Amino acid sequence: MTTPLGPLGDLPADEMRAALHRMADWVADYRETLEGRRIVPEVSPGEVTAGLSPTMPAVAEALPVILRDLDHIVMPGVVHWGHPAFLGYFGSTSNGPALLGEIAAAALNVSAMTWRTSPAATELETVVLSWIRELVGLPASFMGIVYDTASVAVLHALAAAREEALSQVRGRGLAGRTDIPVLRVYASDQAHSSLEKAAIVLGIGQDNVVRISSDARHRMDMAALAAAIARDRAEGMLPLAVVATAGTTTSAAVDPLPAIAALCARESIWLHVDAAYGGAIGALPEGRALLDGMERADSLVVNPHKWLFVPLDFSALYTRRAEALRRVFSLVPEYLRGAASSDAGGTDRGAAIDYMDYGIQLGRRFRALKAWMVLRAFGREGITSRIREHCRLAQAVAERVGREPDFAMATPVSMSIACFRYEPAGVSHESADRLNAAIVAAVNASGAGYLTHSTLDGRTVMRMGFGNVLTTEAHLDTVWRHVVAESRRLGATHGD
Ligand SMILES: Cc1ncc(COP(=O)(O)O)c(C=O)c1O
Repeated sequence: MTTPLGPLGDLPADEMRAALHRMADWVADYRETLEGRRIVPEVSPGEVTAGLSPTMPAVAEALPVILRDLDHIVMPGVVHWGHPAFLGYFGSTSNGPALLGEIAAAALNVSAMTWRTSPAATELETVVLSWIRELVGLPASFMGIVYDTASVAVLHALAAAREEALSQVRGRGLAGRTDIPVLRVYASDQAHSSLEKAAIVLGIGQDNVVRISSDARHRMDMAALAAAIARDRAEGMLPLAVVATAGTTTSAAVDPLPAIAALCARESIWLHVDAAYGGAIGALPEGRALLDGMERADSLVVNPHKWLFVPLDFSALYTRRAEALRRVFSLVPEYLRGAASSDAGGTDRGAAIDYMDYGIQLGRRFRALKAWMVLRAFGREGITSRIREHCRLAQAVAERVGREPDFAMATPVSMSIACFRYEPAGVSHESADRLNAAIVAAVNASGAGYLTHSTLDGRTVMRMGFGNVLTTEAHLDTVWRHVVAESRRLGATHGD
């Protein structure tokens, strides 16, 4: 296609076909050459912008021109998260089956807001959610819904909790009411910050997220939780929810779910489990026990886009209290009455779920398609063997740490996360903090490997996370060699 689009309509069919073939080659070339690329680009802020036109083109441009700019302006500014030596954050991975699903979803461009607006998108979502529920080990009493992220999932869970605990926030709001006490939400000092954003949006207030201290293994301290709840009640506040984490962001610690669930049941407090990353461990028979107690949660989020090989974005919220969620969010405008299954005011009819009734979004992508492709193309066996391999690679980090002088694990490996620290003799803790952060920055700047630093027990640690289907022990070796080399190099100059 060398001529621009006309003033009306789309590409002619034959040109579209040719362009799609070309793009298929582009995608395949990218995947094939990924490993040879620098992981982080050598660009400074504004460099990509400088290559782009500040105003949109007044007239149509030809596709080859646009694709050339993709290669020459956009690609040089991309961080290659899919690179097999990218061990930062939680591995987010694309893969062949997922790509095919994304292409099909883009072509269809349906909105899964009600069953009628796309029966297949709705029913596939329901089926895929039941597969994932079963895979991680949740009982069938949990209903699922797909959102974009775990941040949005916890917002919905707390909105449902708030409506259950107070009367008519949906209708009357919060402002100006004297009948509403201060609401409190509890989470460990290791819990993800997304919970605080939810508290901000819901009018709970960031200051009313009570951070509970964690124990030596970074799990929520039960005695501290019980004491905080009792103290707040004595002061007339209303304990609304506990957010327990199964797989914390830094070290994949798991809070004591059975004890927290028992406390929440006794105190009539909503329990939300953040298993955004750690839920995947439930797919392993040997990992399931780590999640014991999750079945007593009121809601639980698991992100297949973190460790179930579905690319961004795909987050699944499960709840035993689906009606509570629906009471908050079901709102059918007149123009959608004909499209809604529940327009007669009744409940959903079997498979004819209107997912728009369970969240703030109306238009909803056909996300289930890519997940369906991945889960079928990998199969349960393919999923579990990859998760198991990622756990093995994290243990392999611990072995390397054990063999290297001046390195120590910061905490035992949990799931596929390894946190460690370099602390040569004669260097103060504070200086070692700066040194560890500098080592991570230097490895990342090399472009050959990528890891992140975090804080554990008040000290800076290096962290590797595994979750990419392309990562092998050879990639770990590459990153590890860089970590050791940079440690020696920077350690020699990082005196007190
Ligand atoms: C434990 C945990 N929960 C929630 C989140 C937020 O996830 P999302 O990006 O899907 O909002 C993260 C992000 O890494 C996380 O580590």
